[in-house]
Amino acid sequence: MPHLLALMREDIDAVMERDPAAKSRFEVFLCYSGLHAVWFYRVNHWLWNHSFFLLGRFLSQAARFLTGIEIHPGAKIGRRLFIDHGLGVVIGETAIVGNDVTLYQGVTLGGTGKEHGKRHPTIEDEVVIGGGAKILGNITIGRDCRIGAGSVVLRNVPERSTVVGVPGHIIFRNGQRIVITDPKQINDPLSEALAAVASQVHRLSDRVQKLEGSDAGHKPAAASLQKIMEDIDYQI
Ligand SMILES: CC(C)(COP(=O)(O)OP(=O)(O)OC[C@H]1O[C@@H](n2cnc3c(N)ncnc32)[C@H](O)[C@@H]1OP(=O)(O)O)[C@@H](O)C(=O)NCCC(=O)NCCS
Repeated sequence: MPHLLALMREDIDAVMERDPAAKSRFEVFLCYSGLHAVWFYRVNHWLWNHSFFLLGRFLSQAARFLTGIEIHPGAKIGRRLFIDHGLGVVIGETAIVGNDVTLYQGVTLGGTGKEHGKRHPTIEDEVVIGGGAKILGNITIGRDCRIGAGSVVLRNVPERSTVVGVPGHIIFRNGQRIVITDPKQINDPLSEALAAVASQVHRLSDRVQKLEGSDAGHKPAAASLQKIMEDIDYQI
């Protein structure tokens, strides 16, 4: 594990890279409460891991008082986490956060209140989570994902996806707009609803064709959905 000062230096460099508003390293050192919260967390996590549970918890509450950011000392956080603005960010006890993650103000990495044990999300490397987004439960947000401001995400998100909305649904994967139709891959409520509607339309059109005694123009459901989505420039 690199020395604490080396970690602090790379944290400051990460802010300089990711925040166009940052003018100097000294300004970042003095004014970025997201960094102060991460530095407090490192100390508190060490205390937690050495069984000083109460002291770790107490100092994390002190850090919350000073920065407006609550990071449970039991959470596992990688390197160069950048919490921009920060007020209202909450990171739960069993959350895992990878390297080079960016969180904006008001993000919650929380539990659903229904689970025990590992009950907070795992955020893989290079994920960006927009202001006010809530990521709830023991789910995984794959590497290099973007979560839109204000989204509520309750299901796993595969890597390199963009999710928006309440509940969150995937709108981009690998840079392309998508609607997922493969039942094995679906973990997106909007795609699930669209695929269900498409298969219902398919069944009805089958019946109409049978009643009319004609097979002309019959297309399988996936092909009909493909055509609809191509018209609006989505990838299936
Ligand atoms: C999700 C996000 C990363 C997508 O950015 P993008 O890849 O450039 O995508 P676009 O802006 O082209 O948006 C694509 C679609 O998603 C919608 N969308 C984008 N962000 C959204 C959000 N947060 N909630 C709901 N819908 C959203 C857009 O309206 C657009 O819909 P349309 O195609 O029907 O018009 C970005 O909008 C976002 O929310 N970033 C977080 C920024 C933030 O929190 N900043 C805080 C600074 S203090």
